[in-house]
Amino acid sequence: MQFFQGIFSQLPALETERLILRPLRMSDARDLFAYAKDPQVSRYVLWDTHETLRDSRQFLRGAIRQYRQGLPGSFAITLKDSGRMIGTIGYMWVNHEYKSAEVGYSLSREYWNKGIMTEALRRVVEFGFQELRLNRIEAQHEVDNPASGRVMAHVGMQYEGVLRQRVKNKGRYVDVALYAILRGDPRT
Ligand SMILES: CC(C)(COP(=O)(O)OP(=O)(O)OC[C@H]1O[C@@H](n2cnc3c(N)ncnc32)[C@H](O)[C@@H]1OP(=O)(O)O)[C@@H](O)C(=O)NCCC(=O)NCCS
Repeated sequence: MQFFQGIFSQLPALETERLILRPLRMSDARDLFAYAKDPQVSRYVLWDTHETLRDSRQFLRGAIRQYRQGLPGSFAITLKDSGRMIGTIGYMWVNHEYKSAEVGYSLSREYWNKGIMTEALRRVVEFGFQELRLNRIEAQHEVDNPASGRVMAHVGMQYEGVLRQRVKNKGRYVDVALYAILRGDPRT
């Protein structure tokens, strides 16, 4: 068993100024559906727009199954004041040998441009270096989604270049910009 499996099977709650990041639960289905049905939110992520509440339940079942298996997974982003679940952020994969990993995230459109994802990512990067003992944390965004690159840069991730047609999203091969932060890099 890889050491991080124990961590993902019992993800802790992480606190920031405005947010609590905690494991996803089935009771998040309504909050999740409220934003995951928005095609503008799903446009640049690898999951499809949720058509019905059943899609959100299925998404959550998948996430919970991953926790049980100790696989890399996501936190629910919740607002401290209301408890509302407004997005997800987490680890897409972890490479035990190289101590590297990739983070990914999405946020309800209602909450864009308030610094929320920057706040969440900063905490999740800290978690990666402290708890997962990573050396390198990567993130990638489609080149026509520059807001996501701003978030990465805000936390001290450095731009490393464009990977041409790296992913196929909703039927199209797309170029992605790669960012990364190393354990020894300044965090901002
Ligand atoms: C991308 C996303 C995570 C950003 O979250 P957020 O909480 O709005 O991010 P923040 O408020 O912390 O920062 C957003 C930054 O992008 C900038 N921005 C917003 N729209 C922009 C645009 N069209 N072009 C360039 N920059 C833009 C903002 O000005 C801000 O930068 P600044 O602080 O330097 O001014 C959010 O829009 C989202 O979830 N989108 C849908 C899913 C998605 O794209 N996920 C990422 C996949 S890689």
